Amino acid sequence: MGALDTTFIQEAEHRPNLKMVEAEGVPSIDLSDSPARTREELASEIGDACKKWGFFQVINHGVPLGLRKRIEELAKEFFDQPLEEKTKVKRDEVHPMGFHDSEHTKNVRDWKEVFDFFLQDPTLIPALSHPEDKSLRKLTNQWPQNPPQFRETCEEYAKEVEKLAFKLLELISLSLGLPADKFNGYFKEQTSFLRFNHYPPCPQPELALGVGRHKDGGALTVLSQDSVGGLQIQRRSDGEWISIRPVPDAYVINLGNAMQVWTNDLYWSAEHRVVVNSEKERFSVPFFFFPGHHVSVKPLDEITNEENPPKYKEFNWGVFFAMRNRSDYKKQEVENIQI
Ligand code: SIN
Ligand code: FE2
Repeated sequence: MGALDTTFIQEAEHRPNLKMVEAEGVPSIDLSDSPARTREELASEIGDACKKWGFFQVINHGVPLGLRKRIEELAKEFFDQPLEEKTKVKRDEVHPMGFHDSEHTKNVRDWKEVFDFFLQDPTLIPALSHPEDKSLRKLTNQWPQNPPQFRETCEEYAKEVEKLAFKLLELISLSLGLPADKFNGYFKEQTSFLRFNHYPPCPQPELALGVGRHKDGGALTVLSQDSVGGLQIQRRSDGEWISIRPVPDAYVINLGNAMQVWTNDLYWSAEHRVVVNSEKERFSVPFFFFPGHHVSVKPLDEITNEENPPKYKEFNWGVFFAMRNRSDYKKQEVENIQI
C-alpha cells in the first residue's frame, strides 16, 4: 500500500500517540456469583468504575466462549471476501445496516470497514421527513449469503450479549441505589445494534485513526476486542489518552451519553478512539445497547435535587438516533444534542 489517502488524515492535534500508555486502574470485574460478595457489593464495584472511568472490563460474564469464538471467526471470514461480495449488502438510505467502508467520525474517514445489524428487526425510528412528522420508519437488516450460518450465529450471539447488557444495566441501577429494573422498560423497543469492525494494517498509523475520537450515544457498549490492542480512552481525571489492554475472553464495557445524562454526570461517557498499526489487522465486535425510539432521556428525578439540578435538557432518543443515522441531516444539528 502506498501513501495514505488524504481523507484519512487527522488534524495534527488529534493524531494518535502510538506508544501504549497502559490504563493502570481500569478494573477487570468478576461477574461470577460468589458467596463471598453480595450483589450490592458487586454493584458498588461497578458504580465506582462508572464514576471514575466510564470504562471497565468484565470476566466470567456468562457469554459462552465457544459462541464468541465462532462469531469472531465468521467476522474474519466475512471481511476476507472480495469487496464485490461484501458490497452486495452495502449500507444505503433504505438499509442503514449492512457493510460500509467509508465511515467518518468528526468528518475524517476512519481506517476500517464494518458490518452492522439491528437486534430487533425491523427497528422503528422517527421518519423525520418534516419537523411535525410523527410517523415511524422501519429499518430492516441485510444479510450476506456467505459465510454460511452467518445470520443464525449473529442472532444467537446477539441474544447472549443482550443478556449480559441487561445484567450490567441492573447492576448499574442498583449501584445508584435504584431498583434493579429501573431502566429495563426503556429497552422494550430497543434500537440496539451489533457491529463487526475490521481495521486493516495501515501504512501510516501515525496520521490516521481506526475510529476517530467520539463518545458512544446509548446506555452502554459491550465490546469484544481481539489481542492486538489499539483502543484508547480519555481519562476522566486529567484528559490523558490511555490504552485499554486486551484481557483474554473479557468484555470491555463503556457507558454512553444516555447513561451520563440519566445520572446527571455522576457516571461518565468517556471519549475514546482506536489507534491502528502497520503490521497487524485488528477485529472488534461492539454491541451498542440503545433505548427504544419513544424514550425521552433526561436526568433522573431520583438523582437530581436542589443541590444537584439537572445539567441536561430532555431529548427524545429516537430523534437523536434518526439524526445521527441520516446523511441529509447536518452534523451540526446532531452535535447540538450530543453531550
Ligand atoms: C468503537 O468505539 O466504535 C470501536 C472500539 C474498538 O474497536 O475497540
Ligand atoms: Fe465507541
